[in-house]
Amino acid sequence: MAKRFGILTSGGDCPGLNAVIRGAVLKGETVYGHEFVGFRDGWYGLVYGDIMALDRTTVRGLSHQGGTILGTSRFGPYTEPDGGPENIKKVLADLKLDGVIAIGGDGTASASKRLFEDGINIVGVPKTIDNDIDATDYTFGFNTAVEIATEAIDRLRTTGNSHKRCMVLEVMGRHAGWIALHSGIAGGAHAILIPEQPESLDQICAWVTSVKNRGRAPMVVVAEGFKLPDMKEGYSVKGLDGFNRPRLGGIGEVLAPMIEERTGIETRATVLGHIQRGGVPTAFDRVLATRMGMAVADLVAEAKFGHMVALHGTEISRITFDEALGELKQVPVDQYQEIRVIFG
Ligand code: F6P
Repeated sequence: MAKRFGILTSGGDCPGLNAVIRGAVLKGETVYGHEFVGFRDGWYGLVYGDIMALDRTTVRGLSHQGGTILGTSRFGPYTEPDGGPENIKKVLADLKLDGVIAIGGDGTASASKRLFEDGINIVGVPKTIDNDIDATDYTFGFNTAVEIATEAIDRLRTTGNSHKRCMVLEVMGRHAGWIALHSGIAGGAHAILIPEQPESLDQICAWVTSVKNRGRAPMVVVAEGFKLPDMKEGYSVKGLDGFNRPRLGGIGEVLAPMIEERTGIETRATVLGHIQRGGVPTAFDRVLATRMGMAVADLVAEAKFGHMVALHGTEISRITFDEALGELKQVPVDQYQEIRVIFG
């Protein structure tokens, strides 16, 4: 008899989520004869049995579409009164579902691990634009975010050059500066500031001044989680998110007037924000997401519950939830130093 699986997307969205859904449904239907439904709005749909049909027709033309057709949320499967494994088992039985495919970041992976230990058939696909999951070489969405940030740098440089201004671009990156590092290198930034590596205002201003003295317009890229040496946490004035983490954002606006005051060069800040998460995925992300979706269809077909898919080199492989939740993948000091020597 055909098996039935439910797919959900949870946490912050990410370009490529729809391509994963399409890959999983197409391979699952075509190769294994499985049926799929989508849970609406992350764990909410699973806890309340809120589903939509997912078949070949529903996923048609989805690989280039940004966002997630399923919707997402930061609703936790254990934190809400109706959540918890016993209720979820009942929902799955009522819907005649044999398991769950959860696409999400570290919060989703830790909830999935707990549900698996509590007896739920569940597998996962890692997702984050920040690319900070150590157990996979790349997450889909990262390449798209880097392309968008690089284009923003290119655009800021032309207006910066016209006005002879210092331009500061703030990009996402809560604990890891991968988007800042890659877009900053690609865009030829004169300073790249990342959460892993505090830099003093004196040092930042020395880089800016040396660029100004050469008659050029300085370009500084800063990740939202960057900290000056006297800051204990990333800059946050927007309260908490749905997972009770401080909402970051605004460090670029803090740095710009400091740079202007110290160096005497007119300085403007741009916060790129959620533009990095929206819109069409790049071809690289579509390919990675499609391959991950197809691989997760294999996982459920083989009943390899408790596992996630990952990219190692060019191969899609399998890891356990424990492995996925290991170390955060941060920018290593030597990779940062490699580019830092040409700042300024
Ligand atoms: O985790 C990915 C991320 O893009 C972080 O870099 C950022 O701090 C966060 O999402 C912002 O998410 P939201 O505004 O949707 O809560």
